[in-house]
Amino acid sequence: MQQAGILGWGYCLPSKVLTNHDLEKMVETSDEWIRTRTGIEERRIAAASEATSDLASVAAEMALTRAGLAPTDIDLIIVATVTPDMAFPATACLVQANIGATRAAAFDLSAACSGFIYGLALAKSMIETGAIRHCLLIGAETLSRITDYEDRNTCVLFGDGAGALVIGPSEKHLLLAIEVGADGTGGQVLQQPAGGSRHPATAETVAARQHFIRMDGQEVFKFAVSKVPEATLSLLHRAGLTPADIAWFVPHQANKRIIDSVAKKLGLAAEQVVINLQRYGNVSNGSIPIAFAEAAESGTFLPGQRILLAGFGGGLTWGTGLVQW
Ligand code: UT7
Repeated sequence: MQQAGILGWGYCLPSKVLTNHDLEKMVETSDEWIRTRTGIEERRIAAASEATSDLASVAAEMALTRAGLAPTDIDLIIVATVTPDMAFPATACLVQANIGATRAAAFDLSAACSGFIYGLALAKSMIETGAIRHCLLIGAETLSRITDYEDRNTCVLFGDGAGALVIGPSEKHLLLAIEVGADGTGGQVLQQPAGGSRHPATAETVAARQHFIRMDGQEVFKFAVSKVPEATLSLLHRAGLTPADIAWFVPHQANKRIIDSVAKKLGLAAEQVVINLQRYGNVSNGSIPIAFAEAAESGTFLPGQRILLAGFGGGLTWGTGLVQW
């Protein structure tokens, strides 16, 4: 069986920066509160002319360049996102057209902030079974479009951006193991209530601000700090490894306190954790691939090192992955 590995990586961040001090002028908050409760200092915001597919396409082109592949080498494009350009066609189809990946099948994947890890699981199995050769997996968001800038509980957290990986048959940068899970009974703690078939868009849903993210932050926090270590230890156990075998940890970038708690439970040192949330905030599906691609680009990972990935979010969903560089 051919093993699947990472052939290329890319990312795209919009140029506009929204700082904590900017937010102080918009809602009742403070730079001090945001830094100490979340670790976030600033986030990027897409221009009015930029949609999710635009950020995704730039990240995709960088990943193809790093992989040394042409767009026509790609068999499948997956875009993991909670902010597609529109309900349909899929953002992945828009990316396919933008980059000229004419041979590729394309679809979007919806698993909230865990979507990128779900996509990794799918890409790995489709490559290893020979169903496809090259997958372009993108995590991309314009969360600013569904963020309520009158709600201080959520608006300080989110940012825009995209990260991409090209995955294909490889002898290095291997996807060793991936596990994903869900608990649908917890769906109400993190949602965008309106705009789907349950509550279609009406003047009333817009007036009630139901097209924005609604979150019970404390419940998500509790879920993350218990489920992520549990899922990670399960993955490592299945791979015959322990946290001592991990060189780097690339977690979903939601909250520095969550990341610190998970790392501590796993016995990982602060220096082993790849963190960029101070610059970008929580980019949902973009968080893990942006952090991973930035680290790969700067030569952080060394041959043979094992890298642990962990995502969690709405659904509730979670996913963990193990890469060997
Ligand atoms: O990718 C999706 C996953 N999402 C997450 O991982 C989010 C997980 N949750 C969190 O990161 C944290 O729960 C938050 C950062 C959202 C909130 O932090 P917290 O320590 O759980 O704060 P809290 O909700 O318990 O609120 C504490 C206080 C409250 O005031 P009172 O009731 O104690 O007077 C809030 O009203 O902080 C207040 N508060 C704020 N104050 C200043 C909430 N947001 C703000 C704010 N600025 N932006």
